[in-house]
Amino acid sequence: GIDISKLRDQTGLITLDLGYKNTGATISEITYLDGDKGELFYRGYPIEQIAEKSNFSEVMYLLLHGNLPNKDQFSTFENGIKKYNFVADEMKRLVDVFPRSAHPMGVLSSLTSALTAFNPKSVDVSSKEDLDHAAEMLIAKFSHLCAWTYRKKMGLPINHGDNSLNYVENFYKMVFRVPNKEFELDPTVVNALDKLLILHADHEQNCSTSTVRMVGSAHTGLFASVSAGIGALWGPLHGGANQAVIEMLEMIEKDGGDVAKYVDKAKNKEDNFRLMGFGHRVYKNFDPRAKIIKKAADDIFEALGIEDKALDIARQLEKVALEDEYFIERKLYPNVDFYSGIIYRALGIPTEMFTVMFALGRLPGWISQWKEMRLHNDPIGRPRQVYQGATPRDYMEMNQR
Ligand code: ACO
Repeated sequence: GIDISKLRDQTGLITLDLGYKNTGATISEITYLDGDKGELFYRGYPIEQIAEKSNFSEVMYLLLHGNLPNKDQFSTFENGIKKYNFVADEMKRLVDVFPRSAHPMGVLSSLTSALTAFNPKSVDVSSKEDLDHAAEMLIAKFSHLCAWTYRKKMGLPINHGDNSLNYVENFYKMVFRVPNKEFELDPTVVNALDKLLILHADHEQNCSTSTVRMVGSAHTGLFASVSAGIGALWGPLHGGANQAVIEMLEMIEKDGGDVAKYVDKAKNKEDNFRLMGFGHRVYKNFDPRAKIIKKAADDIFEALGIEDKALDIARQLEKVALEDEYFIERKLYPNVDFYSGIIYRALGIPTEMFTVMFALGRLPGWISQWKEMRLHNDPIGRPRQVYQGATPRDYMEMNQR
């Protein structure tokens, strides 16, 4: 037999940190967040200022290149993206074969990975220019893929890109343009989209970003790395929470609107029920993005003249939970996704599309982190483990087991 103690000796000292709660995986210059103070900065700029003053294209530049662009830099960047404002026709055939019932995140992840087949040069990234080039390509094409998942879900034909518009307007048009009807941009909706995308643009080493970096650390191409990140974002404990929040609010509404009952259910951990959109791994004070989104929800509902019972229930739920000892003790506050789904719904985006909207917002973060990892020459990600399985034993023939 094999001596297990010898195996143990070979492993040396291992830090066991389940869920990487205290393990830094990289050195980064992109996003800083202070969970105790509830502060978030993109490249040193406070999120509050960025959300109020910037637009999504400018934030993409900031995350990717490190500074806010001047006029020339910005137009070069925008034109670089516009050069790729189309997707190969063959890719549309892939969309056709998915059933309409398919979850848009599954469709998006598959299409993003398939993009490599039609743009094989995106994998050759030996210089910074190559990395930026792959980034521009993906930024342009990804907005099409996101719009396609919406058109698929709604059973509508695909719209083409329009280079006379900026990035968010172009996306808006690809999503909402109705054939044979004059198209008009609604500035309230475009502004709301801009803000939501900005607030989701990066959040340091979260689950999907770590996935993108981990996959990319094997020198896998950008599109396949991001496709893996989409899979991570899909989960209800991560980006999928925005869909789960609306489903929870609808359930509470159908059940008579008694929010206290659901707060109790979460406290008692009945059927492992959690208040979706509450709690965060790092923010233990409040999520600064949630504050901005809550205000944006109020503004948008007023501007569009909409009333939504889900918004009332969300407000009540927040109030009851924030006064409850269980939530206070555990420092559980609404996170970025508590109100984002309510806004998306008001903008006419179906529930299953919410996480796709999150993915579109997070794209510049994923790409910037992937680019940084390649430029820093980070080693391949390969965690260790603490083994607790069977001790060494000899193989037994089946008739002897
Ligand atoms: N509702 C009720 N109780 C909760 C919640 C919640 N939403 N979140 C955490 N808790 C409780 C846990 O049951 C645990 O209680 P215990 O001490 O009695 O065992 C305690 O708070 C700590 O929770 P952990 O799961 O250890 O916290 P962790 O940092 O691992 O998880 C997470 C963070 C995943 C965000 C968690 O708060 C959660 O599941 N929230 C709901 C899902 C959600 O909103 N996800 C979106 C996150 S933000 C984003 O990805 C954009």
